[in-house]
Amino acid sequence: MKEAKHILATDLDGTLVGDPEGLQQLLKFYDEQVYDVSLIYITGRYCDSALSLIETENLPIPDILVTDVGTSIYIGEKFEKDLEWEKRMKENWMPDEIDALASSIPGLTKQPMILENRCSYYVSEIQPVEEFKRKLAVSAIPHKLIFSGGKDVDVVPKGSGKGQALQYILKKYDIKDPNLLVAGDSGNDLEMLTLGFPSVIVGNAQPELLESEAHPMIFRAKKGFAGGIHEAWAHFHSK
Ligand code: GLC
Ligand code: MG
Repeated sequence: MKEAKHILATDLDGTLVGDPEGLQQLLKFYDEQVYDVSLIYITGRYCDSALSLIETENLPIPDILVTDVGTSIYIGEKFEKDLEWEKRMKENWMPDEIDALASSIPGLTKQPMILENRCSYYVSEIQPVEEFKRKLAVSAIPHKLIFSGGKDVDVVPKGSGKGQALQYILKKYDIKDPNLLVAGDSGNDLEMLTLGFPSVIVGNAQPELLESEAHPMIFRAKKGFAGGIHEAWAHFHSK
């Protein structure tokens, strides 16, 4: 990873995954380049769920896998947990208090998985999200709230999220001036898409991204899924 010069840092569901043909074309294109492209997958899924997606979709094994909306990082082929990041996640993390607050708000349903570094809920309308935001803001609970696809609410440690996880990785591996492309399709991707690196919002993105403010480094692809990544790679990196 240290020597990485070309990197694709991408969300999985709705971004790299969703159009198998577009994905095959993107991977073939990467294979044909004279350079190697390092892969960082940055997903909202928990680790086992991300690993089974990698298997069922036959995705290349990434150099780094970031799961749980940027709260867990796994390195290398053996997916070894980054313990330094893990330690950071545990600092000032108050999941019981967050769950207790959430249970006082009608319309917030806890997601049924056992999760470690995040508290995640489902909603079917915006009102409970607004109430949750207000209540968390007046509480002394350090947190970051992320709303995606009009249905998922993730509350994560303050120093985490997909953008901060990506920044941590680039710093840790001392990756300077990489030819990087960041790709996403929904609200939990916004933080990493606005870091100032070449980024793409794929054509099939959720409304919260399609309606997000224009940003000088964000390319809005016409094509969806992996096809949109391919289009953006050509825009930023193919000379
Ligand atoms: C994925 C995860 C879910 C999370 C959502 C948004 O769908 O499975 O737990 O809330 O992404 O980040
Ligand atoms: Mg997605």
